[in-house]
Amino acid sequence: MKNILITGGAGFIGSNFIRYLLEKEPDLEIIDLDILGYAGSLENLKGLPDPERHTFVQGDICDADLVNKLMQEHKIDTIVHFAAESHVDRSILGPAPFVQTNVFGTLTLLEAAKQAWGDTRRDTPSAGEQNGHFHHISTDEVFGTLAPDEPAFVESTAYDPRSPYSASKASSDHLVRSYFHTYGLPLTVTNCSNNYGPYQFPEKLIPLMILNATQGKPLPIYGDGLQIRDWLHVEDHCEAIYLVLKGGKMGETYNVGGGNQPANLDLVNRICSILDLVHPASVPYSSLISYVRDRPGHDRRYAVDSSKIKAELGWEPHHSLEEGLSDTVKWYLDNMDWVETILKEKDYQAWLDKNYEERGKK
Ligand code: NAD
Ligand code: TYD
Repeated sequence: MKNILITGGAGFIGSNFIRYLLEKEPDLEIIDLDILGYAGSLENLKGLPDPERHTFVQGDICDADLVNKLMQEHKIDTIVHFAAESHVDRSILGPAPFVQTNVFGTLTLLEAAKQAWGDTRRDTPSAGEQNGHFHHISTDEVFGTLAPDEPAFVESTAYDPRSPYSASKASSDHLVRSYFHTYGLPLTVTNCSNNYGPYQFPEKLIPLMILNATQGKPLPIYGDGLQIRDWLHVEDHCEAIYLVLKGGKMGETYNVGGGNQPANLDLVNRICSILDLVHPASVPYSSLISYVRDRPGHDRRYAVDSSKIKAELGWEPHHSLEEGLSDTVKWYLDNMDWVETILKEKDYQAWLDKNYEERGKK
């Protein structure tokens, strides 16, 4: 691993991973390809450790000429593919960009990797000298939804995506694996649960609730709020990806879950309690909780079984939800400049109007 192409490195998880990698690998050169869409920002990349080893390129993963050029010019030997349209609610309001970026964009990267690294099944020589490793970041949402008594998702759980977002990610996962079987492309996949932590764009549940609360705005709970997610701190996720890059077996998939599974309502109440302590207001923040119309096709429960990555690569999460959530709340309170710049840069209010106005109160 000398020259790594990171896609989507100006987004939430990608920018955290770049910070992690610059610390871990002192000789690595990072090329970061990101279109700077609604959730991507150069603000997420300020203050990187050793920034001269990070080269930012604004561009589209669907642009084959650009991707091929980057592969050749920088002798890329590793791709970590984060770039995606990533928000379920946006996919419900407009699915087409999800298919374009998540499916067609992934295909474009796979083709570029095959061209650079060769087709080992047919012994086609590679355009360059290097061997490669393509790592694809996916989600537990491809597995669909669990009933209360069903066991957690394992790597062999059948795919059953139920939103345009998860359907596009499922489709990209299938394409990625097909390149291992058909062309021998050296690759790995991780399917992780809901991430949280610093630099998450404030339209996802946790930062949205922190922000709304500090502004005294309603805290919109979809439906009855008893949906369950498996919360994973982004630093634990970064470590899992790193271990897979170092020791993952080619062609394999690893599930990564945080092992924290409160219902949404419980999670929001915990955020309120932390805020009551560190940023007290005249009334408890939980009084802002407001039930709104549910998300269509809302998956009820996710839970991820991480036994495989634990057994094979020794990974386990280090952040408890209690401490991780408290740190995250404090990070947002301490980084209100970042929040304000991001909100100004992106058309955040337009999104709030679009997603929440017609939801009303339940
Ligand atoms: P994000 O939306 O914060 O970041 C995505 C980044 O991709 C953005 O910077 C965006 O500008 C960039 N991008 C989008 N389209 C692009 C294109 N066509 N070309 C180049 N760049 C493009 O998302 P995230 O939360 O950081 O998620 C990263 C990856 O992790 C995604 O693949 C997502 O499906 C997966 N994932 C996320 C979570 C989570 O909880 N956030 C959970 C499971 C899996
Ligand atoms: P989200 O952060 O959008 O992630 P995902 O849909 O990928 O799980 O939502 C997490 C959970 O929180 C999900 O069950 C939907 C719910 N939710 C709300 O109740 N209110 C909100 O305003 C948002 C954004 C999400």
